[in-house]
Amino acid sequence: MDDDALLAEQMAYYRAGAAEYDRPYAEYEDLQRLLAVVDELPIAGDVLELACGTGQWTPRLAARARSVTAVDVAAEVLALARARIASSAVEFLEADLFEWQPPRRFDTVFFAFWLSHVPPRRLPDFWNTVAAALAPGGKAIFVDDGPAAAAYEEVLTDQPTPSALRRLDDGSQYRIVKVFHDARTLTDDLTALGWSVRIRPMAGNFIGIAEPPTGQDRKGQEVNGGSSACPRPVTDA
Ligand SMILES: C[S@@+](CC[C@H](N)C(=O)[O-])C[C@H]1O[C@@H](n2cnc3c(N)ncnc32)[C@H](O)[C@@H]1O
Repeated sequence: MDDDALLAEQMAYYRAGAAEYDRPYAEYEDLQRLLAVVDELPIAGDVLELACGTGQWTPRLAARARSVTAVDVAAEVLALARARIASSAVEFLEADLFEWQPPRRFDTVFFAFWLSHVPPRRLPDFWNTVAAALAPGGKAIFVDDGPAAAAYEEVLTDQPTPSALRRLDDGSQYRIVKVFHDARTLTDDLTALGWSVRIRPMAGNFIGIAEPPTGQDRKGQEVNGGSSACPRPVTDA
């Protein structure tokens, strides 16, 4: 089952749609309320933000963090993120998260609307990468769409991986990975992987706080072990 083509189309969608990406944040009160919740979450220390996009969450993370390292694959969205927040405490990296390993450990790993873009069969590796990126006592904090959000998507049924169709203003259309995780099932899955996790539904979304398995041989999850996908710091577009 090969989802590489689907992941490539997903990347292409966000590159082509960068200029349209922020529209829902301006239109939907639920999203604005969700953004505000980040101020109540245990964000602390050095923060790694995965799939930061146009930086909707990054300033709020930076306001609570010692430093933020924000990663995304699309230069087009990173350029918008960089224009939104110019701070010496925030570094933007361009990298493919399915190939990239974190260069060091962080106190918080934050990802919004990214987990639903990870194909189910790649989830164990993804959570291992998150665990490897966390310093002792560190937390993963994530926000995403719950099952109710499927009503607002063109869900595709004939794909090997849960997917949806997205359309841009110019009429172009793209398949993306879209997994509508249910809070209960996700809690059970993460618990089975050894994480301690609390997931709180909020309107059609959910917010999760998770701590990685303790006593796991962290040496087995070496940071940056063997990965050649060294990210390129984004300075001037
Ligand atoms: C739904 S957006 C989330 C952006 C931001 N976190 C937010 O909540 O507004 C998904 C992001 O994932 C990025 N992305 C897609 N595929 C990726 C990959 N393979 N590696 C890194 N980022 C990727 C896209 O460029 C896009 O910015």
